[in-house]
Amino acid sequence: MVRWIIFGKHKTLFFFTNKINSIMALRLGDPAPNFQASTTSGELDFYTYLGDSWGVLFSHPADFTPVCTTELGRTAQLKDEFAKRNVKVMAVSVDPLDKHQQWVGDINETQNTTVDFPIIADQDRTVSGLYDMIHPNASETFTVRSLFVIGPDKKVKLMITYPASTGRNFVEILRVIDSLQLSAKHSIATPADWKQGDDVIVSPAVSTEDAKNKFPKGVKEVKPYLRYTPQPE
Ligand code: BEZ
Repeated sequence: MVRWIIFGKHKTLFFFTNKINSIMALRLGDPAPNFQASTTSGELDFYTYLGDSWGVLFSHPADFTPVCTTELGRTAQLKDEFAKRNVKVMAVSVDPLDKHQQWVGDINETQNTTVDFPIIADQDRTVSGLYDMIHPNASETFTVRSLFVIGPDKKVKLMITYPASTGRNFVEILRVIDSLQLSAKHSIATPADWKQGDDVIVSPAVSTEDAKNKFPKGVKEVKPYLRYTPQPE
């Protein structure tokens, strides 16, 4: 809740605060900062919006740009996939609300979808600062393509950063969410290129003997440190 610090006459404090945010970049396991923001779905409090769900917060360099148009369209098309995983999505861009609203019309038209998740109008860079989404050596003014997955405990579970020129792979984002949700529930990890239905890896913290009780579908020991089990339900 830093909006009051950043707004108004305290310009020096604004820059100071931004600097601190840059230095103290978020890391995995950190609490995801809460904020209030103007969005295309109205004024929202991030934590209230998330409720007990998982969250995806992702930034875009600018409105009316081609790659961003496809990314927001793809996210809207995947609405049912996010819902199935109990994930709420929120986008960020530093453009104003009226531009977002016009742009959503273009996205719906060109990507044959309906964007109905909130897009934050982050003109004052509050959210971009809190989540370190502006990388000055890439661009002084625009956010890069940052993406955060936030757990129901409001902790940061995943951070991925792409440059402006590369659109994200949303199948990969869903895949990582599947892995995160599975490993939050079971003592497992997922191997390289894992996808839904593939065997998973028994967590190194679990002995093979305990694993045999935990995973009734069976445990295959390739090496004492490399044990596979069929994906738990
Ligand atoms: C885009 O979304 O298409 C884009 C935005 C900024 C720089 C390059 C591409």
